[in-house]
Amino acid sequence: MRELFRSAAAPRRLSSLGLRARDLDAMVLKTRVTELLKIEHPIIQGGMHHVGYATLAAAVSNAGGLGTVTALTQRTPELLRDEIRACKALLKPGKPFAVNFTLLPSLAPPDYGAYAQVIVDEGVPVVETAGRNPGKWIAFFKKHGVTVVHKCVAIKHALTAQRLGADCISMDGFECAGHPGEDDVGNLVLLAKARTALTIPYVASGGVGTGEQLAACLALGADGVNMGTRFMATKEAPVHDGIKAALVKADERSTTLVMKSVGNTERVYKNDVARQVQEIEARDPGKIEAIRHLVSGENYRKSFQESGDPDSSVWSCGVVMGLIDDVPTCEELVRRMVADAERVITGRLPSMVGGRSGLWSMVAGRSKL
Ligand SMILES: Cc1cc2nc3c(=O)[nH]c(=O)nc-3n(C[C@H](O)[C@H](O)[C@H](O)COP(=O)(O)O)c2cc1C
Repeated sequence: MRELFRSAAAPRRLSSLGLRARDLDAMVLKTRVTELLKIEHPIIQGGMHHVGYATLAAAVSNAGGLGTVTALTQRTPELLRDEIRACKALLKPGKPFAVNFTLLPSLAPPDYGAYAQVIVDEGVPVVETAGRNPGKWIAFFKKHGVTVVHKCVAIKHALTAQRLGADCISMDGFECAGHPGEDDVGNLVLLAKARTALTIPYVASGGVGTGEQLAACLALGADGVNMGTRFMATKEAPVHDGIKAALVKADERSTTLVMKSVGNTERVYKNDVARQVQEIEARDPGKIEAIRHLVSGENYRKSFQESGDPDSSVWSCGVVMGLIDDVPTCEELVRRMVADAERVITGRLPSMVGGRSGLWSMVAGRSKL
């Protein structure tokens, strides 16, 4: 890969990725997660309903991260098989990818067994499980040699998943898009606590979109990051440009929480439809029937895939919108993040360590007294 950037066209190629020549020798971060998942960079794209299609997953994996196809976005297990095959066809040789397997609280659950069987039959190397009671499914995937990353929002659940055999945890903090749980604990605390609680590797999920944050997460003990919202604002994300423009325009105050009263809190874009849901919940708490028509996934599928109107539905996004200023390719984003993280790790942080300058000046200062 580095050779690509050493040709005559190198400066143009580099600047098109938002990099400079000096980034060349500083573009690999090796962690337990890059080893476990056999990826180049410790950056994962989490499952996203109506976003996690083959095109995005393959673009992230081809950029050296781990892209994820979202199983339940496909209406049937056979459609998931087609999507997995489409992803494989787009992947460069040797690149792994994942499938997200979300366990929803539902009165009429999908045929999880059939979806899981397709994942195994198609030789998917990594599964991201998320949601309640993953035990049976972690055992099933592990039995078939699939690496399991379990995404959860509490240390208690991370410990359970570790005990059940998960290979890695994705710690989803309160900042995250989608379902942050009911404990309201941010990643600054969750990640630091995970470091002492867990023995398996974990990645930081929620609120991450820059290389400086990647460096911070590694410093806190994580072995990488998982991102949703930031990957929605990429060229390859299969969502309407109107939604990407909204992600760029919004800031960190542009999300709100709905469905708290039904115990299934979701962080979503702050618009009039979300406010309507909140008003109904305030009047009629705990009644999912009263809000179902407004929070249905089909509404935001239309916003994402058809209208591009960010104000016409309730859709997940995270506070990281405050850090999203452009719509790069996945390759540009991943490379920029790794280069920025390395600059922090090798430049900014070491310059702060007392060492010669700090310690010596202190000693010298004291000796003068
Ligand atoms: C539009 C959207 C849909 C999502 N759908 C799912 C899903 O179906 N299953 C899941 O486990 N996580 C889902 N997520 C959560 C992401 O996988 C990831 O955990 C989260 O986005 C991380 O927070 P961030 O957006 O701040 O990076 C979704 C996120 C977004 C933005």
